[in-house]
Amino acid sequence: MRRSIIAGVGGALPDRVVTNQELADMMDTSDAWIVERSGIRERRWVDCEMGGSDLALAASQQAVAQAGLSVKDIDCIVFATLSPDYNFPGSACLLQDLLELPGIAALDVRNQCSGFIYSLSVADAWIRCGQYDCVLVVGAEVHSTGLDKTTRGRDVTCLFGDGAGAVLLTAGDLGEVGERGLLSTHLHADGKYAKALWVEAPGSRLYPDRLNQQMLAEGKHYTQMQGRRVFSHAIKYLPQVILQGLTANGLSLDDMDLLVPHQANLRINEAAAKVLGISMDKVYSNIERYGNTTAASIPLALRDAEEEGRIHRGDLLVLASFGAGFTWASAVLRW
Ligand code: UT7
Repeated sequence: MRRSIIAGVGGALPDRVVTNQELADMMDTSDAWIVERSGIRERRWVDCEMGGSDLALAASQQAVAQAGLSVKDIDCIVFATLSPDYNFPGSACLLQDLLELPGIAALDVRNQCSGFIYSLSVADAWIRCGQYDCVLVVGAEVHSTGLDKTTRGRDVTCLFGDGAGAVLLTAGDLGEVGERGLLSTHLHADGKYAKALWVEAPGSRLYPDRLNQQMLAEGKHYTQMQGRRVFSHAIKYLPQVILQGLTANGLSLDDMDLLVPHQANLRINEAAAKVLGISMDKVYSNIERYGNTTAASIPLALRDAEEEGRIHRGDLLVLASFGAGFTWASAVLRW
């Protein structure tokens, strides 16, 4: 029986650090407000023309090197992003070209903050059914070029940052890898809330123009978010989907060594931990450094957690996300 193993993990961030104080110089906000409401102290923004695919390249190379494999071993790319380099073609194709892997499959996944776990689930299914042996799963975002840097956009702009994370998923035989590998994924969505967190324009259904001066003046090309609504659903569904993943494997919270949640807001993860009755010692966080990097946040967190010695071979990890769509998901894995 085949199982997917995370053989390597990598991350990449733009060099430019943007502190809360820098945001306060651009708009009516403050370091104290941002830290108190979100736990974020700084984030990274690109400072030149750079797409998510460029950040993804560096993250992918690190993941491949860590796995002790070669880029040539990759036989499929799954790329999660809500900020693709272009409307089309997808960023997976661009990354495939940067990696010089013509001909291999390249798929974009558009499930926002849950994009990485959705991608992991697709890659895992392909590996288990024998279609591919080595799948690169990437989450990458460049938010900064799409943020309203005036007071009008302060609720959203203070939260989001740029970055990329990647894992290399390889096939292992259950007999060889023992307990190691991806045990399950659980995916959910509720499109009734699509407009609670969205970017409206440009959109093909906007008639007769996808984008016009009026839309630009109204800021419809920027992310619009009903923050409290997102928050209340996140703290309801995150604990549910975490428990769903553990229960499906006959496991409990006591078996979990570390929860690696999507990094949207420290308060969301604290509230979820409280509902679950677990200590924040069991919940990984790096949001203070990067803000919300959407599809990149979980692989970046895995990369950092491993570098910081927070995860070890054999540990039971739960990955969990909630975000636009609404979408929410969890993955249970033995590292
Ligand atoms: O990956 C999923 C993506 N998104 C999320 O997970 C976001 C979920 N939501 C949140 O994280 C929170 O709702 C926010 C951090 C966005 C906002 O925190 P909040 O405690 O829910 O604040 P609020 O939206 O109720 O706003 C409180 C006040 C408002 O002023 P008034 O109406 O009370 O005068 C806002 O205008 O704070 C104001 N405000 C700000 N003030 C300073 C909103 N953004 C800012 C800001 N700086 N950046």
